[in-house]
Amino acid sequence: MRANYLLIEIASMKVLGLETSCDETGIAIYDTENGLLAHKIYSQIAQHAEYGGVVPELASRDHVRKTLPLIDEVLQEAGMAKNQLDAIAYTSGPGLVGALMAGATIGRSLAYALSIPALGVHHMEGHLLAPMLEESQPEMPFVALLVSGGHTQLVRVDGIGEYRLLGQSLDDAAGEAFDKAAKMIGLPYPGGPQIAALAKQGNPQSGLKFPRPMTDRPGLDFSFSGLKTAFLTAIHAALDEERCDEQFKADAALAFETAVVDTLVIKCRRALEAEGLKQLIIAGGVSANLRLRDQLEKQLRKINGRVFYARPEFCTDNGAMIAYAGAQRLMNGQSSGLSLSIRARWPLSELPSIKAS
Ligand code: KG4
Ligand code: ZN
Repeated sequence: MRANYLLIEIASMKVLGLETSCDETGIAIYDTENGLLAHKIYSQIAQHAEYGGVVPELASRDHVRKTLPLIDEVLQEAGMAKNQLDAIAYTSGPGLVGALMAGATIGRSLAYALSIPALGVHHMEGHLLAPMLEESQPEMPFVALLVSGGHTQLVRVDGIGEYRLLGQSLDDAAGEAFDKAAKMIGLPYPGGPQIAALAKQGNPQSGLKFPRPMTDRPGLDFSFSGLKTAFLTAIHAALDEERCDEQFKADAALAFETAVVDTLVIKCRRALEAEGLKQLIIAGGVSANLRLRDQLEKQLRKINGRVFYARPEFCTDNGAMIAYAGAQRLMNGQSSGLSLSIRARWPLSELPSIKAS
């Protein structure tokens, strides 16, 4: 990233955000003066469901089909013409390379045609900043729990681009664990919302209990693969004994969800205490989980802490978070130049601080 546009005189910007890193095409326009003007999300979930997970080639092709029509729709919703846009932000990683290429190519080309700057945005920075689109926002510094299908990370946030990794999953991400557990009991992808819905029918007194991995030792790292194995073992045992009925599955879903949530809550509290901070942001698909929100609210109240999160549609992948995150950097003169740099993997800590620009 480099500062190659002089924006000193610009008081506000209308930024078009494009998110195409996985299986959602998210398009939005964020105005740094008036907030979010319009946003649309097209989910490909139905197309991938029969394969039990995201098929990268299908995802890329669908982003190519949907991005331009959705850009027209958000422009219409915002009552704007293309030439009223001041900049374009597109997700440039981490994610599926073909899917990222689709959004980046369209975003970069459109910016070139309009002679406006474009910026490649880090998908997880987008998630991290999504709660800033809501009315109730934390002040920096705070701790962020990033919980998506590909990431489970605790990060100390001192400013935009000032991120220090405090802990992360050593194996599966929390969302991935939900997805795999759901698959084991025949629920469709994505498994998180499916497990959460089934868990509502579960009996808390069923006696089923799964481990809270790595909570019995110090540190802020996570591991969810053992929990997944414990879940599978319980399902196999119930199948062998012919008691794997709908009630058993619901009890197992509840025990699984509770184990993941308890583990996340214990580590969040520990991270806040270690950093001497009181504010926590939760972001990414799993932050839509109501049990997680509820438990964090209860547990953090005990230490005078507060949890902040985005509305459910901005917890999972969306264009608004990319438009917002991009706007913060573009306003500081950062942009990506003409060449495209797409990254399947991209540590959050490599991002430059906006103070540096
Ligand atoms: O952030 P996201 O939309 O995509 C990635 O960047 O990965 O997160 C998707 C993940 C999936 O694993 C999905 O199962 C999980 O978030 N998820 C949930 C819930 N809603 C989505 N997990 C638990 N409870 C939910 N309500
Ligand atoms: Zn995501």
